[in-house]
Amino acid sequence: MGTFERGIYDVVGIGFGPSNLSLAIALDEIRGADSSAPDGLGAVFFERQPAFGWHRNMLLPTTTMQISFMKDLATFRNPRSRFSFVSYLHESGRLTQFVNNQDFFPTRQEFHQYLEWAQASFTDRVHYGSEVTSIGLPPGTTVGSAEYLRLEIRDGAGTRVVDTRNVAISTGLVPRLPKGVQSDERVWHSSEFLEKYGRMNRSELNTVAVVGAGQSAAEITRFLHDELPHAQVFSVIPSYGYCVADDTPFANQVFDPGAVDSYYYGTDRTREAFWRYHSNTNYSVVDDEVIRDLYRRSYDEEVRGLNRLHFLNLTRVDQVKRSGDETRVSLVSLLDDESPELDVDAIVFATGYEAMEPSGLLGELDRHCLRDETGRHRVARDYRLVTTPELRCGLYLQGGTEHTHGLTSSLLSNLAIRSGEIAESIVGRRAETTPEPSLHPAEAREAG
Ligand code: FDA
Repeated sequence: MGTFERGIYDVVGIGFGPSNLSLAIALDEIRGADSSAPDGLGAVFFERQPAFGWHRNMLLPTTTMQISFMKDLATFRNPRSRFSFVSYLHESGRLTQFVNNQDFFPTRQEFHQYLEWAQASFTDRVHYGSEVTSIGLPPGTTVGSAEYLRLEIRDGAGTRVVDTRNVAISTGLVPRLPKGVQSDERVWHSSEFLEKYGRMNRSELNTVAVVGAGQSAAEITRFLHDELPHAQVFSVIPSYGYCVADDTPFANQVFDPGAVDSYYYGTDRTREAFWRYHSNTNYSVVDDEVIRDLYRRSYDEEVRGLNRLHFLNLTRVDQVKRSGDETRVSLVSLLDDESPELDVDAIVFATGYEAMEPSGLLGELDRHCLRDETGRHRVARDYRLVTTPELRCGLYLQGGTEHTHGLTSSLLSNLAIRSGEIAESIVGRRAETTPEPSLHPAEAREAG
């Protein structure tokens, strides 16, 4: 088992999606701007994917971002950042054309290119193809005596460990399939979509179904309708039709940086009101443009007498039976209480995601993380897990904080500000507790 080159890091990031990429930028910029910030702040990130990728399996052509380009990795925290989307456009020679487009919402493909461009400045601090498998105490220490935590990492070379005073957990959303449904070569979750679709022979896909009523479901339905002009495309929708995502200005305020304080410092009733009135800004909703496009297609087919796009409203999947290339889907219709069956060549479950849950990585340490009366982790305003006082290392969450910090927890909207707050907290706590940069015990022995 090897160790990583440096001694004890100030922070190790688990996952290198947009959240921890934004943190890497914030750590650099805060150190650069604040002459009182300590030097030598060591940060390293581990990402299990072999290269940078942001929801690659959903990079469908023409799909657009759900947020303004200005809610990028840095601008809301530091409008002068060289990692802004505008800076990327300038460097790519497309700033003028982008402005001519008069569109706040770039395509996801362009945003992905922006993220790849930004991460290229951090290759010295990121280890790809490296999965963090656990966070624990160093051998021979107790929670009270440990000055740093030890993380285990699995990569191509085997298992290694890395030591750090703080951890930023940012492992992302977890795909959700209905109970009893297993994904395989013909049953896909939307997070696997392009990869599995790419493995199929298109002529084999004569009947396909998409389950769900959210943005991904609608986008995949449209994609399959475009890509498979010979196929019957079924959209299985639990509601009576797609519901529109409210992105009007007053509603959009729930994603403002200030809304985090309103939510965090509010009462249970405040938080409940956020969800009751505003979950239609993001959950199980679809952009107006996609809804209208799908409806227009369906109407056009009726006019031409060529019905191949079918919407099964108020319908749920009860069971999926697989046998070889055959896939039989049992449905339950709330329209007439019938239970029709559908034979498909492939079915896509765009049935959403669970929030990030750090317990698996924390293992034994989780016992020292405090929970609220409903059993959820307590999280401080600076996104640090609230622990028993003897655990002095910081465990920061980027994601999985819907219950404490609100609707932006798993989104990009507040990423720049959140990363800045975490970086400030790490820098501040280091200044309080560590007068001198300390050495790894092995290095200290050598030095002595
Ligand atoms: P993200 O999931 O992006 O990254 C987590 C990373 O951690 C992954 O790369 C994963 O491989 C890695 N990882 C996991 N476990 C690990 C381990 N143990 N060790 C090492 N690495 C590990 N939001 C928004 O505000 N606007 C938008 O337009 C969209 N659009 C959008 C489209 C689609 C298709 C989806 C599914 C989601 C969105 N979102 C969104 C929401 C989405 O959560 C958000 O865009 C970011 O992906 C959040 O970034 P994170 O870095 O937190 O997670």
